[in-house]
Amino acid sequence: MPKTYNIAVIPGDGTGPEVVAEGIKVLNAVSQKYGFKINLNYFNFGGDRYLKTGETLPEGAIEELKKYNAIYLGAIGHPDVKPGILEKGILLRLRFELDQYINLRPVKLYPGVECPLKDKGPEHIDFVVVRENTEGLYAGAGGVLKKGTPDEVAVQESINTRKGVERCIRYAFEYCKKRNKAKKLTLCGKTNVLTFAFDLWERTFYEVAKKYSDIKADYAHVDAITMWFVKNPEWFDVIVTDNMFGDIITDLGAMIQGGMGIAAGGNINPEGVSMFEPIGGSAPKYKGKNIINPLAAICAGGMMLEHLGEEKAGGCIEQAVMEVTGKHIKSLAAGQMGYTTTEVGDLVVDYVNKL
Ligand code: IPM
Ligand code: MN
Repeated sequence: MPKTYNIAVIPGDGTGPEVVAEGIKVLNAVSQKYGFKINLNYFNFGGDRYLKTGETLPEGAIEELKKYNAIYLGAIGHPDVKPGILEKGILLRLRFELDQYINLRPVKLYPGVECPLKDKGPEHIDFVVVRENTEGLYAGAGGVLKKGTPDEVAVQESINTRKGVERCIRYAFEYCKKRNKAKKLTLCGKTNVLTFAFDLWERTFYEVAKKYSDIKADYAHVDAITMWFVKNPEWFDVIVTDNMFGDIITDLGAMIQGGMGIAAGGNINPEGVSMFEPIGGSAPKYKGKNIINPLAAICAGGMMLEHLGEEKAGGCIEQAVMEVTGKHIKSLAAGQMGYTTTEVGDLVVDYVNKL
């Protein structure tokens, strides 16, 4: 019997279903090639369902999703739903309740992809951000007093637990070791101002570092890191940081790797169910036009397979994507690829079969 993976698919909103369809096309091709099976089960969570039912996630959804080997997500976000409702009610709830405490975001410039940085090529841009994914400013701690009055007070607190910080840092060191490239792990923080939170991060970081003598433990302030991403991205190998800083620096990372059309990420619970997604959002204005770039979703599928232990199949997807960026598509931007969404998926499938 071939190995079978049960995947929960949440196509979601906007262009999510279109890019997920291409990702699944590629997953099917690669699973045939490498002799395993993927079983898909679709869930209609997202803005349309919310507008019809008033519900973000139905009762029992989390328990149901825990039964799968992984979750493959398109995008969450709907123009007719007030910002925050779907993000908090679906995406962040899944991350928190499935305890996906790592958000893994590779930043890699593929061949043929136009980079906005002068004189930088694929040899300069290849690093991975390990973003803490369940705490920090995202924890929702704080509150508001006297709302709507001139005396209004709003407090939003960053929650950093020793346990949460330590498991994230340990994951980052292990990841850096396994990646086996420059063997450098940079803690991205703000120890000069956030002297409570990043003191905890810094102490934990250097304590854990003692067990990894072959990895260079490095530190950079978050503001400085945005500067170095632009000036010297080749300095970085693996970066570990908190939830908010990770959110911000990975958008910058996505831009230097060519844009949202290629940026993929994994929400990882190493002991539980993980979820893989293109990080670009639902892009509602391109919905239904067959012009959105599916490569980020395809790469997210590759990351999912790697996480499931199908490293060869995951690597094959990445190779095929690199052939497509290097030899075919003109630009990563929607409508400017020189191909439709479905044609890009077909091209990747062709290379999967050829490689
Ligand atoms: C991301 C997104 C989310 C985040 C939003 C949609 C809640 O920006 O995945 O980076 O802030 O984490
Ligand atoms: Mn973000």
